[in-house]
Amino acid sequence: MALIIGNWKMYKTIEEAIAFVERVAPRVGEGQEVGLAVPFTAIHPAVEAAKGSPLLIGGQNMHSAEEGAFTGEIAGRMLVDAGASFVLLGHSERRHIFGETDEMIHNKLKKAVEVGLRPVLCVGETLEQHRSGEAKEVIAHQLHAATEGVADLSSLVVAYEPVWAIGTGETATPEWAVEMHKRCHEVIHAPVLYGGSVKPSNAADLLARDEIDGVLVGGASLDPESFLEIVGG
Ligand code: PGA
Repeated sequence: MALIIGNWKMYKTIEEAIAFVERVAPRVGEGQEVGLAVPFTAIHPAVEAAKGSPLLIGGQNMHSAEEGAFTGEIAGRMLVDAGASFVLLGHSERRHIFGETDEMIHNKLKKAVEVGLRPVLCVGETLEQHRSGEAKEVIAHQLHAATEGVADLSSLVVAYEPVWAIGTGETATPEWAVEMHKRCHEVIHAPVLYGGSVKPSNAADLLARDEIDGVLVGGASLDPESFLEIVGG
């Protein structure tokens, strides 16, 4: 069964989130694995709106500390308190816009596991690394750096998202994605999602591959109808 996660990024008010969940939740079948990583303000209302459905709600980031003087940050246990069941970690926008390092992501991953959040660890190479043939090394390094020494990785999910394919409309070919997913599977025992310009028109082809265990959908998860097409297809 494929795992399909929408990443709303910094989009949607509480009212918009509730309307979306009310439209989508009843269409998620028992046994289907579907999640939405929503803005912090929408977590609790989305969890309430999804009650009685298997739709999972998660966060898009967290801090690695238990609590503390970290203005503007959010703790893993606060996400749990709001009803989140998973959290995206190391998304390329966090790495490249907000300067998250491998070490920060490692600490976040450890904490997420400790507080009972399912970590969705995002890895991926930049266009430059892609062109210079370093992609496989880069993702193996990112995977090792984030997970080394973490005692319990049983709930871990990996998302392979080539940076050059995120929000660009340029999807990796399924063949490229398969190659990279194989590498992820060699390095770590966890389901691996593909992310980067996944749309209703290409999702089925990606999901048909044995090595691709699901998809992480950004832009196309903002519209309930296109998200439902991906979930259903
Ligand atoms: P995109 O984003 O589907 O809009 O390319 C994917 C992501 O950033 O997770």
